[in-house]
Amino acid sequence: MLIITAASLAGGQGKTTSSFFLARALAKKKYKVLMVDADPQSSLTFYLGHEVELNQPTLLEVLKKQVSIFDGIYESNYSNLWLIPSDDGLETIQDYLSTTAMGELVLKKRLKEVSDTFDVCLVDSPPQRTQICLTTVVAADELLIPVEASSKGLHSLMRTLNLVEELKSVDAFEGAILGILPFRDRWVGRTQAKRSEASIQDMHEVGQGLDVFPSILESERYKQAIDTGRTLEELGHSNLELPFNKLIEVLERKWLKNKNNPLTQTVG
Ligand SMILES: Nc1ncnc2c1ncn2[C@@H]1O[C@H](COP(=O)(O)OP(=O)(O)OP(=O)(O)O)[C@@H](O)[C@H]1O
Ligand SMILES: [Mg+2]
Repeated sequence: MLIITAASLAGGQGKTTSSFFLARALAKKKYKVLMVDADPQSSLTFYLGHEVELNQPTLLEVLKKQVSIFDGIYESNYSNLWLIPSDDGLETIQDYLSTTAMGELVLKKRLKEVSDTFDVCLVDSPPQRTQICLTTVVAADELLIPVEASSKGLHSLMRTLNLVEELKSVDAFEGAILGILPFRDRWVGRTQAKRSEASIQDMHEVGQGLDVFPSILESERYKQAIDTGRTLEELGHSNLELPFNKLIEVLERKWLKNKNNPLTQTVG
């Protein structure tokens, strides 16, 4: 199972949006996808239309090992797509993670138990640099950094890259950076907004050779697709799927080379 974490250290950078659409695109290609909502705001759980009922285990109980990880996994309304949901109770995991030895490894360890069950796991990370955030970044084989095409976005990118460097310097991050995904790239007709153009150029510079993927355009269509449970293609906007198709292309190319990776088994 390949673990991809969408992380970016500021609010509203497109983490949940990009994990949701990438997961759905992978599921549509028949990969078995597990989504992990690791943000107490629980937007992803909401996007997937999942309601956490009283006494039903969530990511909190899974991380605390109060239940088996399998008990925390729920079917979604989409085929090939499962979810470990969250609610605001996840906030209480912070103490547990900071007082547990090697707390940053907790998510990675739990996910190992389902590594033969799913092809890909997509983790939606919170915007703050908390213990939950650290455990989601450390769990990643591939880190996707969605970044708003704005100065706030660039700041978020720098903070996220700094975090990765810090984790690498203590050998805590063993994954790779998949790349930067520009979010809310604004175009008026055929003209790109100056602010978007300049920000995306800066992303290339700050990223120093990291891939910068085709952007998620500023558009109401993404929200519409989430609200109606339909794909962008079904809504007649298949051009907006481009960033996710490109991501999958790169993932398949990169991981197909590795014989031990489950992506090979499904595709092959
Ligand atoms: N293509 C788009 N154009 C404009 N707005 C969008 C687009 N896609 C999503 N949005 C809106 O942008 C906001 C931020 O997106 P999203 O929730 O994915 O970011 P996030 O990084 O997960 O935020 P948070 O840090 O709060 O978890 C949401 O309100 C979402 O509805
Ligand atoms: Mg989010």
